[in-house]
Amino acid sequence: MQNHRAPAIIVHGGAGNLGADDPASSGAPDAPRLVGVRRAAEEGYRILAQGGSALVAVEAAVRILEDDPTYNAGTGAALNADGDAELDAAIMDGATLRCGAVAAVKDVKNPVSLARLVMERSSHVLLAGPGASRFARDVGIPAVENAALRTAAQRARWEASAKLGAPGTKTGTVGAVARDRAGHLAAATSTGGMAMKLPGRVGDTPLIGAGTYADDRLAAVSGTGHGERFIQLTVARHAADLVGKGATAAEAAQLAIHEVGERLDGEGGLIILGPNGPAGFAFNTPIMSRAYSLPDGTIVAEL
Ligand code: GLY
Repeated sequence: MQNHRAPAIIVHGGAGNLGADDPASSGAPDAPRLVGVRRAAEEGYRILAQGGSALVAVEAAVRILEDDPTYNAGTGAALNADGDAELDAAIMDGATLRCGAVAAVKDVKNPVSLARLVMERSSHVLLAGPGASRFARDVGIPAVENAALRTAAQRARWEASAKLGAPGTKTGTVGAVARDRAGHLAAATSTGGMAMKLPGRVGDTPLIGAGTYADDRLAAVSGTGHGERFIQLTVARHAADLVGKGATAAEAAQLAIHEVGERLDGEGGLIILGPNGPAGFAFNTPIMSRAYSLPDGTIVAEL
């Protein structure tokens, strides 16, 4: 019989489409989107297996994905209409319900760690824009040039969209949810948001209850997809509530994503861990890269 209080983690690298020329579209095990989520889940699981907390594990996993230019978060984030990387992130501790978030930050390499410091070193939950940057300096996080966050691939996408006047894509985002040996839950999410978004646009990721939520009594949830739709349905809290009412993590993910699609024609995905049982996930897009631990510690990575 499985020990469902064994440490567990699931991470996502964003729901969306893969272009036909994307090497990841083959689903080959070495596809960059699979390599990154596997590395993130392995690192998070290593922390959990050594007795580390779910909070530390989700921060470490999301930092790996922020630093990987394959994903729409941190370095490699999608660019806004001005051609800038403008980042959102959140983290939540299910044991205490403490949470921290940052929005529209342009000069921080790892916004998930800034979100954690907002939680731990301020009396606030969400800091945005220049105020978040000033707080970052106050707590010792160095400024990075926005150009250092902008990859050639994202710059090329931006130039193509700007030339065609095309609308931005709605998907991307990275996230992790974990359960530690003590049974505590945590969630973290980070994103560059929608490509070609209006400067100052904030999505669901840093809004607690929309793109990110964790409560030991319910579940830990991280979302990816069209943020406006996730905000409208407070998807993360809704999915956590479904687990609280008896749904498995997999059932809750399916129900919540079905509602996003059916009621709002929204696209995206979710990862969930409850106080017991295996991780759940669902998405209504062609792919959602993800990696999760099995009870024996094996990490499975899938598109
Ligand atoms: N889900 C990420 C965003 O819409 O910003």
